[in-house]
Amino acid sequence: MAEITITDGALAVPENPTVPFIEGDGVGPEVTASMRAVVDTAVDNAYGGSRRIEWTEVLAGGKACDRTGSWLPDETLEAFRRYLVGIKGPLMTPVGGGMRSLNVALRQTLDLYVCLRPVRWFTGVASPLKQPQKVDMVIFRENTEDIYAGIEWMAGTPEAEKFYRFLSGEMGVKKVRFPESSSFGVKPVSEEGTRRLVRSALQYAVENKLPSLTLVHKGNIMKFTEGGFRNWGYETAETEFPGQCYTMRTYEKTATESGREAAEAALSAARAAGKVIVNDVIADAFLQNTLLTPEKYSVIATLNLNGDYISDQLAAMVGGIGIAPGANINYTTGHAVFEATHGTAPDIAGTDAANPCSLILSAVMMLQYMGWTEAADAITRAICSSFAEGKATGDLARFMDNGHALSTSAFTAQLVNSISK
Ligand code: NAI
Repeated sequence: MAEITITDGALAVPENPTVPFIEGDGVGPEVTASMRAVVDTAVDNAYGGSRRIEWTEVLAGGKACDRTGSWLPDETLEAFRRYLVGIKGPLMTPVGGGMRSLNVALRQTLDLYVCLRPVRWFTGVASPLKQPQKVDMVIFRENTEDIYAGIEWMAGTPEAEKFYRFLSGEMGVKKVRFPESSSFGVKPVSEEGTRRLVRSALQYAVENKLPSLTLVHKGNIMKFTEGGFRNWGYETAETEFPGQCYTMRTYEKTATESGREAAEAALSAARAAGKVIVNDVIADAFLQNTLLTPEKYSVIATLNLNGDYISDQLAAMVGGIGIAPGANINYTTGHAVFEATHGTAPDIAGTDAANPCSLILSAVMMLQYMGWTEAADAITRAICSSFAEGKATGDLARFMDNGHALSTSAFTAQLVNSISK
């Protein structure tokens, strides 16, 4: 059992790393089998048999509950903690008590503060946009703060009443319109949380030579939380990446002090030097702009709730959740869980019809994270050529001009063949 380790922020990946995987519920077993077949072929081919992933199954969700009585056994968390990098299929959310969500539990336990979602279009995939080829973004969504922290109280409970008494009595808050029937939620946003998220996003932009980083927020209304995110984000860029980026806050300062022409000259010089241009935009305008001028955006850093809306809209612009990959990462400890972004799709489970691309593309992200880019690129090329020929699972093929619907297993075989050629 060879373990992936991390030293000073750099992963050390052995030739045959152990990678824990959660098969998942519903369509989970089908998409996981497909993903493993495709990844094993790509790794074997790319490195002439010298590298291999040692898959080790760990349990979570319905399968775990049936076998162990626990939805998320300690051994599973321990495996992800020990081996750093893992992958998971979709998990059903326990209904009626138990934990709120297994995904949230995993994120919290391992402090996976970045939810990473790359969004790109593949030729051939139907899109509601006229020019979907212009969409190529990577979303860094903060995973541990904001109203998703789950600090809220239901209207009419003693806790909600107590909280309101504190607000009105001690904090002098008079703005709650209907205090008796109000539920309350708290939205913590910290400098530390913002800095580590923006640092990761900027690092990614610099390493991948991407043109810009956009801080998306509602700081015009929520001045200290969302506005704090914007300001701390700019500060992180200016203090930690001074030679690698140029911020539009500096641009505005230069324009005020030395005139617009001087600011424009500095911006052009930064672009010419290949620096990452850091800007910010209000979340509602951003959602509109992504439809009208998606080419203006590259790396996105945003808070949890905004990130939730943004991820789904952008995924829909390039073909939907069936092909949207994702990961939850702590770049400091190295812990990373790559995951299918769709649910368990109970309506098609067991029918060999599920689209495995969300999980396969998540595995591509995993291989990139491990530095095994040759294998990652081989899989991406195979998916590109398959879609370009109209060969896809039914959910995508039915909207393609030259669509030819394949079962999960036939689509997998087609990718494996294409990679092996
Ligand atoms: P869902 O994503 O499972 O299904 C929504 C629709 O998309 C269905 O029509 C389904 O057939 C289709 N679909 C989903 N994945 C597909 C794929 N790979 N290929 C082709 N079609 C696909 O969402 P739903 O029905 O709201 O949730 C079902 C269960 O999944 C619930 O228990 C929910 O809590 C859980 N869930 C888990 C997630 C995760 O583990 N990351 C994410 C979302 C939901």
